[in-house]
Amino acid sequence: MGRFRRLEDLDAVGLLKGGNVLVRIDLNVPLKDGRIADATRIERSLATLNELASRGAKSIVVAHFDRPKGKRVASMSLGPVAKALGEHLKRPVAFAEDCIGGAAEEAVAALGPGEVLVLENTRFHAGEEANDPDFAKALARHGDAFVSDAFSCAHRAHASTVGIARLLPSAAGRAMEAELDALSSVLDAPERPLAALVGGSKISTKLDLLRNLVAKVDVLVIGGGMANTFLAAQGIDVGRSMHEADLLPTAREILKRAQAVGCDIVLPKDVVLAREVKANAATRVAQADETGADEMILDVGAASLAAIEEKLSRCRTIVWNGPLGVFEVEPFGRGTFETARFVAERVADGELVAVAGGGDTAAALGAAGVADGFTYVSTAGGAFLEWLEGKALPGVEVLCEPR
Ligand code: 3PG
Repeated sequence: MGRFRRLEDLDAVGLLKGGNVLVRIDLNVPLKDGRIADATRIERSLATLNELASRGAKSIVVAHFDRPKGKRVASMSLGPVAKALGEHLKRPVAFAEDCIGGAAEEAVAALGPGEVLVLENTRFHAGEEANDPDFAKALARHGDAFVSDAFSCAHRAHASTVGIARLLPSAAGRAMEAELDALSSVLDAPERPLAALVGGSKISTKLDLLRNLVAKVDVLVIGGGMANTFLAAQGIDVGRSMHEADLLPTAREILKRAQAVGCDIVLPKDVVLAREVKANAATRVAQADETGADEMILDVGAASLAAIEEKLSRCRTIVWNGPLGVFEVEPFGRGTFETARFVAERVADGELVAVAGGGDTAAALGAAGVADGFTYVSTAGGAFLEWLEGKALPGVEVLCEPR
């Protein structure tokens, strides 16, 4: 990643003071029973909106919600989320019922310095996901400058992430800047030893990620369902545990590559076994190779935990994606929670830089009570994974292009 432009670059050329600034934020928040279940993405957007307001800029928010596939879907309106944004900002936020055309233009014209307007879901138009040049132009008409503050959408080359950025003077907002600074500190020039903790159910969704990390990190801790595939690849009978039998050769190839480049792969030794994934199911702890034919591996055991902590105690930087067990179901969260607490303690002692990301991971850290104990927790799901895979993200690259 090259140098990306920041708000200071727009300010230096007088584009913020009193200007119309299009701000791309991620308002794609999870809902439960019609209510916002997690407002982290809204909270992370406040710094940029408040800073723009303090400079007298008019903020015109562009964002998507859910996947309406180019059609107007009433349940996917950004109206209720715009209201919630106003509550977090503690001032009124205007809302326009379309993101382009007359309704949007009138709402933009009515905006005063320091005020915020949210435009309706960009994905109600097919031109958004197609990054259609005319649609991007229709959006860009609203602003003198563009601030991109949605790292979690940066893997999408859409009109509102890439198209507008090419049409207007553009820069990263404070949330995007915080994500990029945190992520670069982990993989670009980390203090070593550097460890990655990768969990989750399947290696099939994380093959590129594992291959990229093996080449970059000193220690790779593998947990969750994907560890079972690696155990099976070593000839261990994992009983009824989730694993991907067709990927055993791939798992072997990753193990071999790790050995060749000196990456220390840490797999569970003892494991928590049960016959059903059910709260308070009967469990036993045994060595992974003692798994019974009718049993499933659902968490790492105490000896595995001790081995993970011993490895991590020697590291200076860690990046974490994916839980180490079925943390949502008691008692299979212990491995994830205790590891998270151990990491948070070392961060608090100033011994470790720890960055985590991905939907499940943020939820697991929250459940462990250490959501604020990591150096940085990304709000991104797909974008965080693609970054861990070593891919260039179009919504970031465009902010680095020379202008
Ligand atoms: C996310 O929730 O990860 C982002 O808002 C991107 O959403 P998408 O996966 O629908 O593009």
